[in-house]
Amino acid sequence: DKAGHKHFMAKEITEQPAVIGDALGHYLSADGRDVILPGGDGLDFTQIDRMTMVACGTAYYACLTAKYWFEQLARLPVEVDIASEFRYREPPIPPRGVALFVSQSGETADTLAALRYCAGKAERIVSVVNVDESSIARESDLALPIHAGVEIGVASTKAFTCQLTVLLLLAIKAAKARGTLSEDAVADLLSKLRGLPATINIALEMDDDFKKAARRLAEADNALFLGRGLMYPLALEGALKLKEISYIHAEAYASGELKHGPIALIDKRMPVVVMAPRDALFDKTVSNMQEVMARDGKVILITDRRGAEAADGGIWRLLTLPEVDPVLSPILYAIPAQLLAYHTAVAKGTDVDQPRNLAKSVTVE
Ligand code: F6R
Repeated sequence: DKAGHKHFMAKEITEQPAVIGDALGHYLSADGRDVILPGGDGLDFTQIDRMTMVACGTAYYACLTAKYWFEQLARLPVEVDIASEFRYREPPIPPRGVALFVSQSGETADTLAALRYCAGKAERIVSVVNVDESSIARESDLALPIHAGVEIGVASTKAFTCQLTVLLLLAIKAAKARGTLSEDAVADLLSKLRGLPATINIALEMDDDFKKAARRLAEADNALFLGRGLMYPLALEGALKLKEISYIHAEAYASGELKHGPIALIDKRMPVVVMAPRDALFDKTVSNMQEVMARDGKVILITDRRGAEAADGGIWRLLTLPEVDPVLSPILYAIPAQLLAYHTAVAKGTDVDQPRNLAKSVTVE
């Protein structure tokens, strides 16, 4: 049932405020000042020296985002890898380490194999899953459900933002346990998280703006996505969404990598989607944007009000999101990444829910 939407993907995108709210409800303590994991306090972050996160596709980008959170908030070193690389590289698993696997379906063959490789080697096997009864959930010491509900669109949307939500909660819990965030700082972040579904609703109401930008994007053969810090994994996710459902060739780079190669691609036919809230790295991103515009590249800037004010003229399309604490920005900026891809695919007339050559669950290598 598409609940009046043209595609399951559109339905699932609009469900995000509700399912993120639901996930928060499952993990927050009654007073809202603490994160409670299912099955009690089985994960002692004071006894852990490092974390290894493994996944595929969109779930891998959720891990890349979480690396920033665990390192910055909890000062916990994190290594992230693609499951198909990790499993065959047979990396050493250091003691006092948690191995964490993220998977919507819980059945992805490479992720499951990577989990089995770590079993008996890592201190704890933790998974972040949408399907509670899945193989990955069953074979973990601790399975953390994301409460996104059934996801039917092949391109992952609400599962991604719910994965991010649960991973951020876990990072905040780790930070509290390790004493790198004060109790008040934790309560403040959690209260901002509770306000996030309402902020996402505001972004969803900008649907028409994304549609207009997408109409132009649909004319392109290639697109580049740029982001720094927490926005770099989001740029990767935006490029993946676009290629999956619109079949436009898209690549993402950390903004700082632009002049190390990809700038050679910039000409007047190259749209460049820049994801940049006005955070500590904003000015650096503006200078990357100017390099793009000086070569006639078409910049689509996704930012907030202060970013829009600070960005110079010459921007092709400006999309202004509500402001959020920079820590939460990846969850909010997932919305424009999804809606740009969605409307581009609709404009091109591709099969949004069943893109060619793709399966929802990849249970073979
Ligand atoms: C992208 C997408 C895929 C999956 C990947 C992992 O939109 O859906 O990249 O994210 O195949 O799948 P799960 O999360 O089921 O392990």
